[in-house]
Amino acid sequence: MLQKKVHIMTYGCQMNVSDSEKISTALRGAGYESSPTIDGADMVILNTCSIRAKAEEKIYGILFTMKGRLKKNPGLLIGVGGCVAQQEGERLLKKVPHLNFVFGTHNLHLLPEMVRQAEAGKRVAETSFIDDESRLDLFPMQSEGSGVTRFVTIMQGCDNFCSYCIVPYVRGREVSRRFSELLDDIRSAADSGVREVTLLGQNVNSYGSKGDDGSGFASLIRDVAEIDGIERIRFMTSHPKDISAPLIECYAEVRKLCSHIHLPVQSGSDRVLQMMNRGYTRAGYLEKVARLRAARPDILITSDIIVGFPGETEEEFSDSLSLIEEVGYVDTFSFIYSPRPETKAAALHDSIESREKHERLNRLLALQKSLTARIQSSMVGERLEILVEGKGRDDGQIFGRSSGSRIVNLQGSLDLVGTLQKPLIVKAMQNCLLGELT
Ligand code: SAH
Ligand code: SF4
Ligand code: F3S
Repeated sequence: MLQKKVHIMTYGCQMNVSDSEKISTALRGAGYESSPTIDGADMVILNTCSIRAKAEEKIYGILFTMKGRLKKNPGLLIGVGGCVAQQEGERLLKKVPHLNFVFGTHNLHLLPEMVRQAEAGKRVAETSFIDDESRLDLFPMQSEGSGVTRFVTIMQGCDNFCSYCIVPYVRGREVSRRFSELLDDIRSAADSGVREVTLLGQNVNSYGSKGDDGSGFASLIRDVAEIDGIERIRFMTSHPKDISAPLIECYAEVRKLCSHIHLPVQSGSDRVLQMMNRGYTRAGYLEKVARLRAARPDILITSDIIVGFPGETEEEFSDSLSLIEEVGYVDTFSFIYSPRPETKAAALHDSIESREKHERLNRLLALQKSLTARIQSSMVGERLEILVEGKGRDDGQIFGRSSGSRIVNLQGSLDLVGTLQKPLIVKAMQNCLLGELT
């Protein structure tokens, strides 16, 4: 029988990239092989993100354009998964009449059966949550990607309920993968040539906190560091309130742990942080930064910041700007606040005008740009250790990342992929550094 083809479109965070791999595996079981293009596909899956309204609107835009495709290819099946699917469920089928099926973030294991029903002409939606560890057994997680770096999901879901955030509602409760399974997974990744792992979760610091083996995140890092072949360990994302003394000790003692931490602060104002339900103050955050720096003096810190949270005053926004300078972030990802369904903040009066929010965002971006330039320029003349990952920006170039997660491009042979090198940094650009192997 001729293999049918599915084209999977992925939006949003690394968690979705990882889920798309699982969707692909599930659909293979239903007789569909993945196709890199939509042309000639028998089915399209949109794996969606709902973190801000714009991300959600984009999905409706794409679904609308699918109408044109259906004219040319009336048999095309369309499925929506991911966080918008979880949020909307059956409503999506009502809103989009040419949509065939909707599956939530905990329902990947049901896909083969749902596809069979869709093939038989039924329109189906399944978005029930599975809020315990059995979720992991229903659809075992694999490591994703190939080559020398790999993302390894260590936990799913989030219990933090920051007041603006939809993630706890669309991903469900926190569940950690078992310690021994994770270590086996990373050992086999190392055997296949992986040199750097990024331990992935919405809130990695609370890894294992509900588990019965009592193994926390810091002990996971220490055990991963014992694996032969793994040279570098990164993680994403950690919540500032959960940065623990054992984790800080890892920065002092575990050489393989990279000199970078993404530590989203969201705001520099205590009143706004409290309204966001973040569970720390500006001073508490700065104290953790100081302890991290004492443990690892060359650590580079990146952050996420929300601009224009309901009621944020000009002064409170200035507190975010001054915090950016005080910490000296090498990079920040900044977002204009977007009200999300079900969240607590959605009930607050969003009083700040859009023009004002954009103006604040631009000021923040300008400040960060100059800070990034300043920090990157200070690296010129130094030797930074990089792990070579692949082809660089220009012809004949290769690229790697420094321990602090800065991209370094340099002339060199692709034979160096997978090796650690120590180029001399000769130039700092806005988004990367230029190095030389001498
Ligand atoms: N679990 C991670 C990442 C969450 S999503 C963490 O806690 O850091 C990534 C970023 O999107 C968040 O850090 C936040 O800055 C931003 N974000 C989340 N919800 C948002 C909203 N409603 N409006 C604007 N930005 C939002
Ligand atoms: Fe969202 Fe907060 Fe959880 Fe991050 S920690 S996913 S911002 S609720
Ligand atoms: Fe988006 Fe869902 Fe990730 S809302 S950021 S795809 S967890």
